[in-house]
Amino acid sequence: MDRQHRTLVDMINRVHDLLTEGKTEEAMAFFKREVTLYVERHFSDEERFMREIGYPDLENHKKAHDQFRKLMLSLLAKMEGNVKEFRTGLALVLGWLYSHIMKVDKKYGEFYRGRS
Ligand SMILES: [Fe+2]
Ligand SMILES: [Fe+2]
Repeated sequence: MDRQHRTLVDMINRVHDLLTEGKTEEAMAFFKREVTLYVERHFSDEERFMREIGYPDLENHKKAHDQFRKLMLSLLAKMEGNVKEFRTGLALVLGWLYSHIMKVDKKYGEFYRGRS
């Protein structure tokens, strides 16, 4: 899971770099095609892992993922062809992911380590 988190952060940074280089179209396409898919894959892997280890707070964690899924979808719709919205949306996505990884994901890691 940690490796997936690193990949996720790398991908978001790549979108940011593309934007900085002025490659807006490329950044949006990469975000739409790759990042959203990877996020979905990561969420389902994480949910499966938590189920396997019998994590007691799975339901709340899943709710947080679901909220983010919705946020991402609504951002995707708004961002379409709008660079300013895209930048704002990206910052939001980035902030959410960082804080989720540091606070919410950290908890099942601690549970797993305490259990084994
Ligand atoms: Fe995660
Ligand atoms: Fe998570």
